[in-house]
Amino acid sequence: MLMTDIIAKKRDGGELSAEEVAFFIKGVTDGSIPDYQTAALLMAIVWRGMSRRETLDLTLAMMRSGETLDLSGISGVKADKHSTGGVGDKTSLALLPMVAAQGVRMAKMSGRGLGHTGGTLDKLESFPGFSSALSEEQFLAQVERVGFAIAGQTADLDPADKKLYALRDVTGTVQSIPLIVSSIMSKKLAAGADVIVLDVKTGSGAFMKTEADALELAREMAEVGRLAGKRTVACITDMDQPLGRAVGNALEVKEAIALLKGEFGGDLLELCLTLGACILTEAGAAADDAEARAKLERGIADGSALAKLAEFVAAQGGDARAVYDVSLLPDAPVKYEALSEASGYVRRIDAEGVGLVSMHLGGGRETADSAVDLAVGVTLNKKRGDAVAAGESLATIHARSEAAAEAAAVLLRRAYSIGPERPEDVPFVKAVVRAEG
Ligand code: URA
Repeated sequence: MLMTDIIAKKRDGGELSAEEVAFFIKGVTDGSIPDYQTAALLMAIVWRGMSRRETLDLTLAMMRSGETLDLSGISGVKADKHSTGGVGDKTSLALLPMVAAQGVRMAKMSGRGLGHTGGTLDKLESFPGFSSALSEEQFLAQVERVGFAIAGQTADLDPADKKLYALRDVTGTVQSIPLIVSSIMSKKLAAGADVIVLDVKTGSGAFMKTEADALELAREMAEVGRLAGKRTVACITDMDQPLGRAVGNALEVKEAIALLKGEFGGDLLELCLTLGACILTEAGAAADDAEARAKLERGIADGSALAKLAEFVAAQGGDARAVYDVSLLPDAPVKYEALSEASGYVRRIDAEGVGLVSMHLGGGRETADSAVDLAVGVTLNKKRGDAVAAGESLATIHARSEAAAEAAAVLLRRAYSIGPERPEDVPFVKAVVRAEG
């Protein structure tokens, strides 16, 4: 088989066979196909697309490119959750303990943040001593004993995706539904859970800027998951403004803790209940959505979800006292109010803009090896639809220095659009997509 023939076939709109897809992925993984040929095929896929059968074959070939986790030794149904990423997205920190407190186990591999979106592993390191470097044995044992574990993705899991993603990032080939589906689903399938719940974000701070694109991505991921034998649900949710109020590592941990204490609601709680209800019903732990939500809410009210978070933090070497006393978490020395210059209603908050403010304060990574300041970030005091008067605080900036805070306040004000009329309310959860087959 020749790679040049495969590239030409896709360039001309042909459908690749399972053997051709497997040949490509094997060559990417063992380095026998040069990057220029891989990049050429990726660009042909961007333009010509892939049938669902090709996307499934690509996903399965990528999944098989490295090690896969076998969760079958752990009792019960095991679930996993994935978000396409957004600003202020601390959902996993609250959702996993909420679900585990209801007896459904969750095994999650997470990543670090890059650019304007944060990573769950960075956020968790706000707990002094916390480690995400678990061996496979430790990871499996903790999921069984505590109910959930969050570990860094090992180098051996889906090596084809690591190579392909690095190339896509520099060749303008990230934006392609089959390439995104295969990238996300191959990692989820390799991680071994029975139930996969996907949070597909749409809006200014998201990868998928339009609802139509988000819907297409959600449908394809749900179908590929089903064809691979997994119970898969994809929820489409709003990322047209940051999620919750906190953006920044330790600030987001504090917000997740406040949610688990029952002190914080809004869009973040709605998201946790929506995703959590999908997991409980798919896992058979609740008969329907209403029963699942009631269980999850009870777990917050009776403190069991918060206790589960503390158990998890301690199991991974972190100081669990910080769950009950957030003054033990990192805190920035400077708090600075970004005041509004206009009066009216908040019409828009550019999520990506707020993410970049946090990144410039030191809370995110500009390159893969930059260090992250866990304490800094932004707390939004006004969200879309809120009335604001000139001189009122739009957001509190948490910074290392007065100068950094002042510069951040200028950028933050630019992220807010304020107008005379209140914008219409938009639904936060736009759709819940299950496989049709
Ligand atoms: N996230 C991934 O893991 N892969 C993509 O291709 C896009 C988003």
